[in-house]
Amino acid sequence: MTPFTGILTSLLLASTLYAADSADLALRTQATNSEPAILIEAGKPIGKVSPLLYGLMTEEINHCYDGGLYAELVQNRALLDDPTTPVHWSMVASGSSASIQLDDKQPLNSALPMSLRLNAPEAEETHPVGIANEGYWGIPIKADTRYRASFYAKAAPGFTGGITVSIQSPDGATVYAQGKAEGISQEWKQYEVVLQTGKLNPTTKARYVLSIQKPGTIWFSLVSLFPPTWKDRPNGFRKDLIQMMLDLKPRFLRFPGGNYLEGDTVKNRFDWKKTVGPISERTGHMGPWRYRSTDGIGLMEFLTWCQDMQAEPILAVYAGFSFKEQLKAGPELEPFVQEALEEIEYVTGPVSSKWGAQRAKDGHPEPFKLHYVEIGNEDFFDKANTYDARFTQFYDAIKAKYPDLNCISSVNPIDPPQKWVRSRKPDLLDEHLYHSTEEFLGIASSNYDKYDRKGPKIFVGEWASREDKKIRPMNKAMLTQAATGSMKATLGDAAFMTAMERNSDLVLMQCYAPLFVNVNEGAWQWRPNLIGYDALHCYGSPSYYAFKMFSTNLGDQLLRVVSKDTSVLACATRDSKTGEVLLKLVNAQSTPQALKIQINGVTAVGSQGTATILSASPEETNTLEQPMKVAPKNSVVKGIRNSFSYEVPANGIVVLRLKTR
Ligand code: AHR
Repeated sequence: MTPFTGILTSLLLASTLYAADSADLALRTQATNSEPAILIEAGKPIGKVSPLLYGLMTEEINHCYDGGLYAELVQNRALLDDPTTPVHWSMVASGSSASIQLDDKQPLNSALPMSLRLNAPEAEETHPVGIANEGYWGIPIKADTRYRASFYAKAAPGFTGGITVSIQSPDGATVYAQGKAEGISQEWKQYEVVLQTGKLNPTTKARYVLSIQKPGTIWFSLVSLFPPTWKDRPNGFRKDLIQMMLDLKPRFLRFPGGNYLEGDTVKNRFDWKKTVGPISERTGHMGPWRYRSTDGIGLMEFLTWCQDMQAEPILAVYAGFSFKEQLKAGPELEPFVQEALEEIEYVTGPVSSKWGAQRAKDGHPEPFKLHYVEIGNEDFFDKANTYDARFTQFYDAIKAKYPDLNCISSVNPIDPPQKWVRSRKPDLLDEHLYHSTEEFLGIASSNYDKYDRKGPKIFVGEWASREDKKIRPMNKAMLTQAATGSMKATLGDAAFMTAMERNSDLVLMQCYAPLFVNVNEGAWQWRPNLIGYDALHCYGSPSYYAFKMFSTNLGDQLLRVVSKDTSVLACATRDSKTGEVLLKLVNAQSTPQALKIQINGVTAVGSQGTATILSASPEETNTLEQPMKVAPKNSVVKGIRNSFSYEVPANGIVVLRLKTR
């Protein structure tokens, strides 16, 4: 008896859902006579699917935090973005001799040493004088919404008025919400005002104004405005962007970079200790992507973000390599090794430890879970080739104190072995792949298949496909393209995802990068990106939906898939609890591809399954205006048997959920 007739016999005994009528039998007999294009060996899983396979990578790039996920609406709130001029601020005055100026003689504290001085020799009810902030490409405003305004202020002697706080149209003609802070004294004090909007049409075309109606000189610092945030946290995140991430069901979050971890210089690395505690004590720093970061999203925020998503933190620690400065292994590096150990203690230590106590003071007595630490980022760019020695120093110190932590090394897979970490065996290697669609299609059917299963596991910590091989992610010409990719790029992405999932016994984790982009002109430095937004709206690129299709349809058993005479790429997993086979198919051709699909090794196949299909012309994409132009559609697929025909649409990505037992 062949395996196929065995299945046939079992099917005849199966329940109604799985039973076959005589027409089915004829078809099946016919199907078994010709070879399938896609053969799924469902009876003998070839491995376990990594439960962490699909996750997210994040760093401050493209105004991903400031002007993005971090819900702060005021740009340059601490007046440190430019030491010469109060950028993003302007004066609001009607016919008076007022002025505004940066002032380092009236610091709020040593962390925020600059203030904004408003000098208004004349001001009255009908002629208020103030300062206005333009926000991150506009102050977004919605109807019936409460905004939390806060600022530090002090007045020169003689000032007797209050400060009016408002959100208004750029010309000041329409006031959307207004409140007042009274009792401005000659000492620095924080003031908080709730601004409540009524009925209005949502817009990003608004400004945030603090004004006085009596003459005086006022200094301002840490001027802030928050809309309602995720879980209503005071220093919180944008709700819509968190939801976009939750919908992807991410199993981990890699942070804080990327180049943002390293910075251009040692001083501008992600210096974690400066990112915790009250925001009035966070100086912020210059990021590598040509703008300053407020550090409003600091280590604690990253950790609670992971917790909120129930995602495993993948903590990258600074390892002595910055873009324009590199440290040598040995005594010079030792303080940074200690800094990393202290960071791990902050994350995981008991409250009785020094840094665990600091974490408790910062509001989180409970230690966070941590299983993975990445040592550096893209250290293969270190021309002095010191990574092996630096990695070893970190690895030994981390493993000595935290033997259960997995240490990840970065690697460029095409580098010669002398550039890899050799002195220690990293637990995982972090590979970054930014390729064109054609390149990903070229490697998708073979990548990772031949990797040594006894070697380190693989973490694809950054990857993305672009439409045009010549226009690289940071090439100036990319600014003429959209910040998020088109369906063509998505086909490359999906093809590569089949390779990673097919090898998910080895590839433990993978994440697309960059995750976020503020699509306003001047806001971004890299393309393509997964999720785009302005101050008010957001959307997922077609690749976002492809990623979602992959990450939310994952079994725990890895199945062997044999393809024959087809350009359609495939991978399959099975859910051991439900018996469902989850088959992913990618057709990058411009014509539909009819496939014969066969499932071996199961007793019966349900006659009805579901298909999630993403298909569009290569140039089609999503935008703020048309956020769902390219989005998946669900349908029921009937007439499924252990061997059946299925047509994958042109430029199409399909997830089939098939019942088996
Ligand atoms: O994802 C954008 C950048 O690409 C990252 O910061 C860096 O690690 C890589 O070169």
